[in-house]
Amino acid sequence: MSHDKIEKNINLMSILIVVVISIGGLIEIIPLMASSAATEPYEGIKPYPALQLAGRDIYIREGCYGCHSQQIRPFRSETERYGPYSVAGEFVYDRPFQFGSKRTGPDLARVGKRYSDEWHRLHLMQPKELVPDSNMPAYPWLAYATVDGELVARKMRALRVLGDPYSDDDIAAAADVVSGKTELDALVAYLQNLGTVRSAR
Ligand code: HEC
Repeated sequence: MSHDKIEKNINLMSILIVVVISIGGLIEIIPLMASSAATEPYEGIKPYPALQLAGRDIYIREGCYGCHSQQIRPFRSETERYGPYSVAGEFVYDRPFQFGSKRTGPDLARVGKRYSDEWHRLHLMQPKELVPDSNMPAYPWLAYATVDGELVARKMRALRVLGDPYSDDDIAAAADVVSGKTELDALVAYLQNLGTVRSAR
């Protein structure tokens, strides 16, 4: 009888649908917020230093995530190829995270230190020079654009509001640290750090 009432009253049904979905959603979300595995940094993980932070934004701007994931799943086929699988605590300072889902190119979660800086520079300038079959685009403009130090400092300040533990000194030094660096320098610094903390174990 009462079910009849719900089915015939679209307003009441809408409200009840929202209530049921909210309960389901909260049950999924709340444990993650409370679990320290997802909110505490993995041992050794620090907020991105200024140059890497700038590089990370270039990675996002250029859409590298469209072809590269940054998440190694806990399967033998993945760990044999890429290294230790990814854990949530490695990504606490990633806003937004760069997990991705498309692998036209290899996963980059542990690419840090796998190649030399020089390799990355050449590869980003002209991938086919190093990997003749590569269909990765070239990004030659990165070598000419310089990083805006003021902007990096502002980003660090904004991230601190969100909880990233940058000190006043980190922020004050940011503009000097990136002064004269090109976008290519920044992107290579970012790539060279990817996944190194956990893969070092
Ligand atoms: C259209 C797809 C595509 C895009 C976009 C792309 N890549 Fe790639 N990338 C590839 C492919 C395919 C490979 C494998 C061949 C090669 O090494 O060039 C690769 C390889 C790489 C490698 C070497 C990985 C390894 O383990 O050997 C790095 C590092 C890399 N890409 C970084 C980047 C960065 C940074 C960007 C954005 C600036 C980017 N890629 C954008 C397709 C892409």
